[in-house]
Amino acid sequence: MEKINVRLKRTVDDSYEILVGSNLLSEIPKDLQKKGIGNRYALVTDHNVERLFGSRLQEIFRRENIQLPIVSFPAGEKSKNLRTFAELLGKIHSLGLDRKSAIIALGGGVVGDIAGFVAATYFRGIPFVQIPTTLLAMIDSSIGGKVGVDLEQGKNACGAFFQPKAVYVDIDFLEGLPRKELQSGLAEIIKHALIFDSRLFEFLEKSLRKLISKDKASWMHVIQKNCRIKAAVVEKDEKESGARKMLNYGHTVGHAIETVTRYKKFSHGEAVSMGMSFASRLSVKLGLLSEKESLRSTALLQAAGLPVRLPALPMGKMLEVMRKDKKSIGGKLSFVVLERIGNARHDVIVPEELVKEVIAPLMD
Ligand code: GLY
Repeated sequence: MEKINVRLKRTVDDSYEILVGSNLLSEIPKDLQKKGIGNRYALVTDHNVERLFGSRLQEIFRRENIQLPIVSFPAGEKSKNLRTFAELLGKIHSLGLDRKSAIIALGGGVVGDIAGFVAATYFRGIPFVQIPTTLLAMIDSSIGGKVGVDLEQGKNACGAFFQPKAVYVDIDFLEGLPRKELQSGLAEIIKHALIFDSRLFEFLEKSLRKLISKDKASWMHVIQKNCRIKAAVVEKDEKESGARKMLNYGHTVGHAIETVTRYKKFSHGEAVSMGMSFASRLSVKLGLLSEKESLRSTALLQAAGLPVRLPALPMGKMLEVMRKDKKSIGGKLSFVVLERIGNARHDVIVPEELVKEVIAPLMD
């Protein structure tokens, strides 16, 4: 027997900048060139975002003599599948993009995830940048390189870790966002505060009214803080083997609610809010979190207009989904729980009986 070693130890530098600001779009073409990202580009987006901002971005690039062909697909989670992915790859290929070209993802989480996955796989990977247009994408999904699509068998079941080369967060997009979308993003912002940053939590308690009335300075502060939190987590644990798991706070029950209601009844933020309401009660039950802090957490979610009580859903089905959740350990239910506001713990295994005992009084 001959043994041949393939030695592939390597150091990679996937560092990138997140630029947060107002009136940022017009800076992008020059910044891409300054950073040496791509020599040709395609804009990947959905039909809604294309209608609202497609030609504006094309015009900004045209002023710098850069063509920006648009490749788009119908908006919504239902498009986040292998069929759309294959169609996008075909269209990108027809445009003649090569390995030095770059993809510009303009949109919310679905656009970022699918455009990033196209970039990760086209010619085995070409650069891409994110221009998030929703609050959730600005503070969470555009940062950290989780890209992919859903399978019929499971959400985000097919994908990769593939970091963008830059993220451009233009807070002017918040102006046009419906209140529901703002609330959905707020759920993840409150989550970041609960698990990592008690000062951010206090700021949110004080400034919620201003945020809801779209006060720009308050949003600038909150978005910058949240991008820093997300960036720090990704730096520490890109592939989700430790600290990044904390970001799943509220997501086990939240995901079960979304699955059992077939993603039709609640936004992601609403489902996560109910999940966080459960998780804080569980944390109290486990003797970790004080009653007072649990109430503060629930009060902030309610003040943001987010639900903290669950609909009456079949418990058996909920538990079945939770057992299959990526966070379960050997079929046992595992949760992220709070020790206090600003501090969390992951991989806490909890008996099903206790989960039922905590959920039941929260259901209508
Ligand atoms: N949105 C969770 C994560 O990026 O890990």
